[in-house]
Amino acid sequence: MSRLSTKHFIGLKDAKQSDIQLIIDTALTFREVLERPIKKIPSLKGKNIVNLFFENSTRTKLSFELAEKRLSADVMNFAASSSSLNKGESLRDTVQNIQAMKIDCAVMRHPVPGSCLKLTEYLDCPIVNAGDGTNEHPTQAMLDITSLYEKFGKIKNLKVSIVGDILHSRVAMSNILGLQKMGAKVLLCAPPHLIPKFMSEFGVRISHDINEALEWSDALNILRIQRERMGIGLVPSVKEYRDLFGVTKERLQRLNKEVVIMHPGPINRGVEVDTYVADSDQSVILNQVLNGVAVRMSILYLLLGVANES
Ligand code: CP
Repeated sequence: MSRLSTKHFIGLKDAKQSDIQLIIDTALTFREVLERPIKKIPSLKGKNIVNLFFENSTRTKLSFELAEKRLSADVMNFAASSSSLNKGESLRDTVQNIQAMKIDCAVMRHPVPGSCLKLTEYLDCPIVNAGDGTNEHPTQAMLDITSLYEKFGKIKNLKVSIVGDILHSRVAMSNILGLQKMGAKVLLCAPPHLIPKFMSEFGVRISHDINEALEWSDALNILRIQRERMGIGLVPSVKEYRDLFGVTKERLQRLNKEVVIMHPGPINRGVEVDTYVADSDQSVILNQVLNGVAVRMSILYLLLGVANES
């Protein structure tokens, strides 16, 4: 039966390998739906899904909304900035009022780590984590892993480097957890102070040399420097970061192989990655965005579809 082993999709920390593979396989069937002239299927007709966004988003918010509409669900969008949170209403009261309107699923992005797990205490319906602070961004990792699977036909033994601001990155954490469960080898590359010390316990390789990471990798997942989460700043200058860690045309052309280039977005062109690299044939960045719709369709279908109604 096509369903996940869990009621919610909160993170990849406790996810089963079989669930990750089921999400990939289902997403790839939805990719075919997205290539059809008519891209809508009735799988979630009659289901009400609310998107709760307490933090800025372009890709995740729009692709959840599109995935829900492609599956024929009814969609409600909640924007914290224009809500009664500004009148002092709590998260608990906010979501319990929304639940009273009879919703079947809530998707939430929130700046506080652990907030999606907390939401499972307030609501009866399935919860999907669209990014909780610096903790996890599991649907992003699933679309990254699906894009790798689509490109290489496997995840096991792939060498994937995650380059950039690991310290503040929920994308890095979910990718490490998901890739390792699927048998990939992971290398983290960043200045020492942007890689938390506990990362060595995850069995990942660590490098502070971008050229070494490029030589080792089948694919590079490049992260932006999250200056908004850095307080006074952990990177002395953008130019210095680019010189030491930027994925540049010159660095790619020095290799005698083609490394697949990935980035979850938003991109800071000319900082962590050059425009030439981001837009090259080696880049799958926009394919990641399309796979984001398919992966979110897959997760929502596996949580809410007909197999869950018994
Ligand atoms: N990758 C990602 O989460 O992008 P947004 O913040 O635009 O959703």
